[in-house]
Amino acid sequence: MSVRFAIEPLAKAHKRDDFFSGNDRIDSYFRETVSQDVKRNYATCFVAREIATDRVAGFYTLSSSNVPLTEVPEPLATRLPRYPTVPAVLIGWLGRHSDYAGQGLGEALLFDAIKTVANAPIGAHAIFADAIDDQAAAFYVAFGFAPLVQRPRTLYLPVATALNLISP
Ligand SMILES: CC(C)(COP(=O)(O)OP(=O)(O)OC[C@H]1O[C@@H](n2cnc3c(N)ncnc32)[C@H](O)[C@@H]1OP(=O)(O)O)[C@@H](O)C(=O)NCCC(=O)NCCS
Repeated sequence: MSVRFAIEPLAKAHKRDDFFSGNDRIDSYFRETVSQDVKRNYATCFVAREIATDRVAGFYTLSSSNVPLTEVPEPLATRLPRYPTVPAVLIGWLGRHSDYAGQGLGEALLFDAIKTVANAPIGAHAIFADAIDDQAAAFYVAFGFAPLVQRPRTLYLPVATALNLISP
């Protein structure tokens, strides 16, 4: 995967206007809105570029956020400090072009997001994602993410556990 795609910060040279993941909300966000969010530091965006063609094959965004302790699923919550919120990084959006479906690119984007969060010099106990639909939720659950107590489409994984996915 690392040979075929370069995962790098979003730049002007990345052509976004024909990105098609099959989900309208993800596609219009990536085509029309993401650069404004990056400009305002609401999110960082990383793009998977197919090296041979320079095509944009997928992307994800990260934003600093937190999760109320009362929403962290048991038994994960019991071992945490009694602060009202858990520092966490939100994967706001993640998608890959439909031309690259089922080739491990979604997994490569998720693993890169985990590495980025784990290596950032800012504390984040967990990584979480707002799944856009039930299929997206199933994607995260397949990697061990657990639904939040009151928001079942928001999926949560401690960074320490996520790192085991990358290097078991
Ligand atoms: C979800 C998405 C990113 C998956 O990308 P992909 O490149 O097709 O998936 P991969 O080839 O990397 O699959 C990796 C693993 O996840 C599994 N998987 C993929 N999609 C899945 C789903 N919806 N439910 C359960 N498991 C899924 C695969 O079976 C594979 O497991 P395996 O290695 O054991 O076979 C992609 O379907 C997509 O971009 N969808 C539209 C946007 C979206 O739903 N984004 C999710 C975040 S909001």
